Amino acid sequence: MKLYQGRIPQRRQGGGSRRPESLWRRVPLAFLASAVLALGCSNGTSTDGGTGGVQTTGGSATTSAVTGGSAPGGTSQATGGSATGGATTSGSAGTTQVTSASATAGSATGGSASGGTPQTTGGASTGGVSSTGGAATGGGATGGSVTGGNATGGSATGGSATGGGTTSSTSTGGRASGGSVTGGSATGGTSAGGRASGGSVTGGSVTGGGATGGRAAGGATGGASGGTVLGGTTSAGGVSGGTTASAGTTASGILAATPPMGWNSWNKFGGGVTDTLVRGIADAMVSSGMQAVGYQYINIDDMWQSSRDASGNIVPNASKFPNGMKALADYVHSKGLKLGLYSDRGTKTCAGVPGSYGYETKDAQSYASWGVDYLKYDNCNTAAGSNMQTDYTNMANALKATGRPIVFSICAWWFYNWEPTTGQLWRTGTDITDTWDTDSHSVIALINNNGGWSGRYSGASYGSPGLAQYAGPGHWNDPDMLEVGNGGMTDTEYQSHFSLWAIMAAPLIAGNDIRSMSAATKNILTNADVIAVDQDPLGIQGKPISTSTTLEVWSKKLSGNQTYAVVLFNRTTASASITVTWASLGMTATSATVRDLWSHTDLGPTATQYAASVPSHGVVMLKVVGN
Ligand code: GLA
Repeated sequence: MKLYQGRIPQRRQGGGSRRPESLWRRVPLAFLASAVLALGCSNGTSTDGGTGGVQTTGGSATTSAVTGGSAPGGTSQATGGSATGGATTSGSAGTTQVTSASATAGSATGGSASGGTPQTTGGASTGGVSSTGGAATGGGATGGSVTGGNATGGSATGGSATGGGTTSSTSTGGRASGGSVTGGSATGGTSAGGRASGGSVTGGSVTGGGATGGRAAGGATGGASGGTVLGGTTSAGGVSGGTTASAGTTASGILAATPPMGWNSWNKFGGGVTDTLVRGIADAMVSSGMQAVGYQYINIDDMWQSSRDASGNIVPNASKFPNGMKALADYVHSKGLKLGLYSDRGTKTCAGVPGSYGYETKDAQSYASWGVDYLKYDNCNTAAGSNMQTDYTNMANALKATGRPIVFSICAWWFYNWEPTTGQLWRTGTDITDTWDTDSHSVIALINNNGGWSGRYSGASYGSPGLAQYAGPGHWNDPDMLEVGNGGMTDTEYQSHFSLWAIMAAPLIAGNDIRSMSAATKNILTNADVIAVDQDPLGIQGKPISTSTTLEVWSKKLSGNQTYAVVLFNRTTASASITVTWASLGMTATSATVRDLWSHTDLGPTATQYAASVPSHGVVMLKVVGN
């Protein structure tokens, strides 16, 4: 059992000092670890990454253009038509991508790829099987999605998956050229001329492409050339000739192009953060599979500081961090992860160690020299006569002046209209506690504040139409860090907590001990289907669309034609049926395919609406694609 100090921030409109109220909270230990989910991309496979040439072996393209063809061992792909009945016999097949054609779950019109994963326009391919050594060339999947597929050692050239989602799949040793991968991960591969949104490329390189919110680590062939990396990290492989050249740099200024994902020390460990803990968490981030599904920031909260030296430089607590922050950042970076720190606009932090007031430039320079990638900036012990907006702007400018892309997380406990142009995320309420609905710190209260609007929920006081309008790539509402796995709620409630954060496009910052979490906790935190909703590149914050405020329907428009995430949310104490109609989503189609994002099952084409029994305090979360 761990005791630590939290506080109860209160809304304040202006600057000046505030005296936070303290409380003591208990946070039980979380549990043992288990299985891994990997979120990734599968744009086909190839033994040699061959490009060009129409693949005719064993199949035929019956309509219009088969563009680009495929390399030996590949799978045919058709653009603007369908390749019907084609079977790829030369080698094992990779991904079949078909535009404007239909292909569903395992049987591709457009060439059956032995072991391949079909991708279709506006459709969904589910549970695609693994393919090895094939190639997918010149194809495109627009608005399609591939879920649960797995491609090993392949390549996709000239393909694109725009507005589609690739979820729960991995591409190992693969190559995606001219393609685009959303929410995917390619390990040991290369991506040329492509675009990886929200994905990660480990051990590969990105050439001539753009990675949005992606990560390229350990590039084998010189990293990214002539490409752009938006909101991503490039390490070890380097970037040459591109418009972006350093970790997390954004060619177009989009830092945090999708909601930041990571871990923070405060909810579980309070002031007990140490070098050993942070290294252990970084290790667990990798071994648990959390990194593979998109978590990247390891954030140290309050109490890492001790004092200032004679020159005014901030000094880390030497007994907690005996190796200093630079060595710790180097270690975290060596894992392909990023390091975050915490400070305060006042003279002291909320826990009473030195804040940054008057030292903004010096502190920003220290952070940059250590290799810090993220700064959470709190609102306690403010200096007499100081102004909140001015103080936050001073630190934002100091961070920018370092030239290092450092995500600026504003922790002022409420929304102010200058925040979206000052930081990448801002808190929209008080400190979260590990409780469902007991008070203003509970998950329910924070959902009401972040996701509602004036009059919808008692206690929520934002003006219509609420905060959702302020969310988008590079700027996010932050209902605070996650409590999933800390022991105060049921797994059903944690699942709802995570689902609502995802549909609200909230930052997903785990707050539990990920070194020793239960299988149930890990299952929630690594649900790639749900994470893909949070990380959707459009960056739209979902909202409640039901009249009912107890049996609710929430909706979030996703990239892809007529594609939506839906949460059916039962706030009551008894299970109940909740119905979503396609018309209420704004969908023109009368039939839609439905995927359950927690059971990971496809429920097939459904006319007009979908109804489900939802447990008390629980959710049913869906991806709905009109067809
Ligand atoms: C405030 C913040 C919390 C945490 C603590 C640390 O209460 O809102 O998230 O950072 O300070 O003291």
